[in-house]
Amino acid sequence: MAKIFVLGSLNMDLVINAERFPNKGETIKGTDFFINEGGKGLNQAVACAKMGAETYMIGTVGCDEYGKKLIKALKTYGVKTKYIQKIKHKNSGIALITVCDGENKIIVNSGANALINFAKVEKILNTKTLPGDILILQQEIPLDIVEKAIAIASKKYVKVILNPAPAAKIKKDLYKKVDLIIPNETETEILTEICPDDEVSIKLAIQSLHKLGVKNVAITLGSKGAVISAGKEIEFIPAKIVKVVDTTGAGDTFVGVVAVMLQEGKSLSKSANFANTASALKITRKGAAKAIPTYTEVLLSE
Ligand code: RIB
Repeated sequence: MAKIFVLGSLNMDLVINAERFPNKGETIKGTDFFINEGGKGLNQAVACAKMGAETYMIGTVGCDEYGKKLIKALKTYGVKTKYIQKIKHKNSGIALITVCDGENKIIVNSGANALINFAKVEKILNTKTLPGDILILQQEIPLDIVEKAIAIASKKYVKVILNPAPAAKIKKDLYKKVDLIIPNETETEILTEICPDDEVSIKLAIQSLHKLGVKNVAITLGSKGAVISAGKEIEFIPAKIVKVVDTTGAGDTFVGVVAVMLQEGKSLSKSANFANTASALKITRKGAAKAIPTYTEVLLSE
C-alpha cells in the first residue's frame, strides 16, 4: 500500500473559549482553558492515521516538554515519528487559540517549525518515498522548504497535495507539480485575487487555480461546505448541519481524509464528500487532533 508523508508543523495549542473575542487593548475573561496537540501538519497526519493510512510525519519539535508530548500523541494515533527532528535551544511550535461561538482566532509562534533542516527532508523524500506515495504539505514551515519538497516529490512521481495555509503564493512554475490544492476561502482569494463568495466567483477562482497549472482543486467554504473540480465540471458539496462547537482543525481533517480516500482509489468527488462528513464531525468536538474522527465514526455518520 502506498504511504502518506506529511511535511509540516507541529504545535501545542493553548486554547481559551470565550463568549466574544476581545477588542484591541481589552482584557476579557474566558470560560474554559485546555492544552492539546495541533499544528496543521500534525492534525493532517493524525487525520490520515485515523483513516487507517500508513502515515509518516516529517517536521520539527523543540527539546522541551511540549516536543515530547507532541511526538507521544502522534505515536498514540499511529503516526510514524522517526522523521521528526528535535531542535536544541528552541521551543516547540505554539498556537494561542481563542474560540468563540465555534469560530477561532489563532496566533502561531513557529518555534522549532521554522528551523527544519532541508538536507534531512531532502534525504527522506529522495530515499524513502516511492512513486504513488502521497506528500501532503501546508505552509506553516518555511515556504522555500515547501517549494523544494514539491519539486523533489513531483520528480519522484509522488502525488503532491498542497494546503496553502497560512496563505502565501509559491513560485508560479511549481503549481503544475501540485496534484491537488486545498485552500479555504481566504487562501483562495490571496492566491487568485478573486473572493469566492458566490457561484460565479467560485467558478472563476477555480479556473484561475487550474490556469496556474494545478490539476485538481478543492476549496473548503466553511459553513457553505466545499467545492471541487478535476478540470471540467465543478461539484458543490453542501456542509452538513451540525452543532458547531469548535472549527479548529476542520480544514486539516478535510485534507487528511481526502488524501487517504484518493490513495484508496476513490474519485475526487467520493473522497471530498467523505472528508466533508469527517470535517462536520470534527466541528462538533473541542480541540484539534484529538477531535478528528476515526474512519468508522465517519462511516457511521454518512
Ligand atoms: O489548522 C488548525 C491549526 O492551526 C491549529 O491546530 C494550530 O496549531 C494552527 O497551526
